Amino acid sequence: MKILVTGGAGYIGSIVVEQLIKAGENVVVFDNLYQGHRAAVHPAAAFVQGDLADRAAIDGVMEQHQPEAIMHFASHTLVGESMEQPFLYLGENVINGLNLLQSAIKHKVRRFILSSTANLFDDPERMPIDEAERIVPGSPYGESKFILERLLYWLDRVHGLRYAALRYFNAAGASAERGEDHNPELHLIPIVLQVALGQREKIKIFGDDYSTPDGTCVRDYIHVLDLAQAHILALRALDQSSRLYNLGNGQGFSVKEVIDTAREITGHPIPAEMVARRPGDPAVLIAGSDKIRRELGWQPQHPNLRDIIESAWRWHKSHPHGYEA
Ligand code: UFG
Repeated sequence: MKILVTGGAGYIGSIVVEQLIKAGENVVVFDNLYQGHRAAVHPAAAFVQGDLADRAAIDGVMEQHQPEAIMHFASHTLVGESMEQPFLYLGENVINGLNLLQSAIKHKVRRFILSSTANLFDDPERMPIDEAERIVPGSPYGESKFILERLLYWLDRVHGLRYAALRYFNAAGASAERGEDHNPELHLIPIVLQVALGQREKIKIFGDDYSTPDGTCVRDYIHVLDLAQAHILALRALDQSSRLYNLGNGQGFSVKEVIDTAREITGHPIPAEMVARRPGDPAVLIAGSDKIRRELGWQPQHPNLRDIIESAWRWHKSHPHGYEA
């Protein structure tokens, strides 16, 4: 199948592209390289540098490549940034998604997969969080993804666009060739590994007064290769119907547990300093992913935190400066 992947030069997008190509699919990447890296794009994928703000550029790609499906990763993705710059999210994320969808409808694309987020669930009534949980976006970032989910709902009803919205919990880990390289890096596991590489002095732990067993926040870390498999399964199931899935391992680990595991793996003491809470961080986020397991037979192959961090460590050691040569 010919698949257009926006954001295919970014962390999750580039690894999904790699796995799509391994599965025999034909991929076109559309990315403005704002956060992504040209070197992250699998050499077997066609690459178009372009911006989703540019309707003519999107139409051009659709006309040239005639994709049968779209996977939409390109997005601003930082909860904290969205609280400071809401228009980047409620503006750009939404408008760019809208541009892509308008072009998709115009060019009669029938399948669409959206990268959505656990940030839809800021005030969960139950843990783990399943798809029946009420939606309370935690930030303009989460709201922007919710707006796109609602757009997809209506485009399915009105135009028959089949979609899957995959709400990622904490994507982590690496494949053999591709990993996490953000600038600035704000995510826990890569920062901890930068300390182990001697590139940072210490990790700052954002709060140890949460109501969790050790006082630090608990998150559900899911291996990026398992996320990639979920995309492939969801794509194949779209012929039957549209769907929404929460995607995580169903197991939570605290910030302290992540740091301790990284200490064991790297053999580095990884100094940590306790600092104030980061605004907007919920205490616990754990996914209930029974629905995708049941309906699509998805089964994480790398559910252990140790395996996830080990894969990231291998990548960071072999790419100490990320994708920069
Ligand atoms: N943390 C620290 N120190 C750091 C960085 C992070 O203590 O230097 C803590 C955070 O407070 C949090 C945990 O580590 O408790 C994980 O933080 P990340 O920034 O790695 O990830 P988040 O859980 O904040 O965010 C992730 C995705 C978002 C998504 C969100 C869903 O990166 O895109 O989950 O809630 F929206």
